[in-house]
Amino acid sequence: MKKVSIKDVAHEAGVSVTTVSHILNHNEKRFSKETITKVLNAKETLGYFPNKNAQQLRGSKIKLIGVLLPSLTNPFFSTIMQSMDQNKPDDVDLFFLTTTGKELESNIKQLVERGMDGLIIGRLIENPEALDTYLKKRNVPYVVLDQSEDHGFTDIIRTDEEAGGQLAAEHLIRLGHRSLAIIAPHQMMANMKDRVQGFITYCRAHHLSEPLFMQTELSKAGGASIVPAILESNATAVFAINDEMAIGIMRGLADRGLSVPADLSVVGYDDIDFASYMIPSLTTVAQPMEDIGALALTLIMKKIQSPDSNPEKVELPNKLVIRETTRQVN
Ligand code: RIB
Repeated sequence: MKKVSIKDVAHEAGVSVTTVSHILNHNEKRFSKETITKVLNAKETLGYFPNKNAQQLRGSKIKLIGVLLPSLTNPFFSTIMQSMDQNKPDDVDLFFLTTTGKELESNIKQLVERGMDGLIIGRLIENPEALDTYLKKRNVPYVVLDQSEDHGFTDIIRTDEEAGGQLAAEHLIRLGHRSLAIIAPHQMMANMKDRVQGFITYCRAHHLSEPLFMQTELSKAGGASIVPAILESNATAVFAINDEMAIGIMRGLADRGLSVPADLSVVGYDDIDFASYMIPSLTTVAQPMEDIGALALTLIMKKIQSPDSNPEKVELPNKLVIRETTRQVN
């Protein structure tokens, strides 16, 4: 079946192609209500949808923003996405894509070729200089989030990760825990290294023995599978690098007839939506996910309007949310 074109809509509505183009691109001020209605009805009747790439070439007012994230299933990232979606102006379309570290470069090229006006990148960038050169050459502004390393090329949104790690350590030490373990992924992103550093620095400052450092997969399954190693250690409390790992640890303990916090105190990181609904509810270091999403959108829109503006660096605070997975010990 032949694809419905803008010409078909113009013919059906009895107006020119230019009129249809203006109206469908939110440029309708100069047209009568009657003409607008005729065009919108014709669009509906024929099931017409504009080809975005062609739209770009014709100078549409709709901005396309590509958002690259590591996962759609981890609520940390889906909450950020949701916030972007809720805060997006009418003249912006978002294009979400998950990407692995290896695929990041090719995924970015793919989005640029599809005519994105700007990119939001929430995945560790291995070669920031090459990426910056590539995007600047093509006039595609970008904003990065959820990483610690600021290479100074563009706007960055980060959270105070060291302070986040410190908050977790401070809470556990205040509860009397002296044997602590950090549960981290095999592949540590720079922001995760900072949160671990914050935790260790705080322990050292309080003359505690070095926390154990255990590595597993960055997932719920990873958390569950590290439980035997935790139980072999003398740790009375663990700091999991994210909430998903913390949930996995709790499942691993429950499968062995053990409970949290009676047998082990657990602190997570992120404060995903499940954290407050679980039984027991999860003590965690909350990252401001909604703010990160909304801000990323604001910054990229500003960057599209003023591509030569100085890079903005925004650091948002994290906060400890004390719930039911941690307890006082003697
Ligand atoms: O849950 C995903 C984790 O990886 C978050 O803590 C986020 O900061 C990311 O780096």
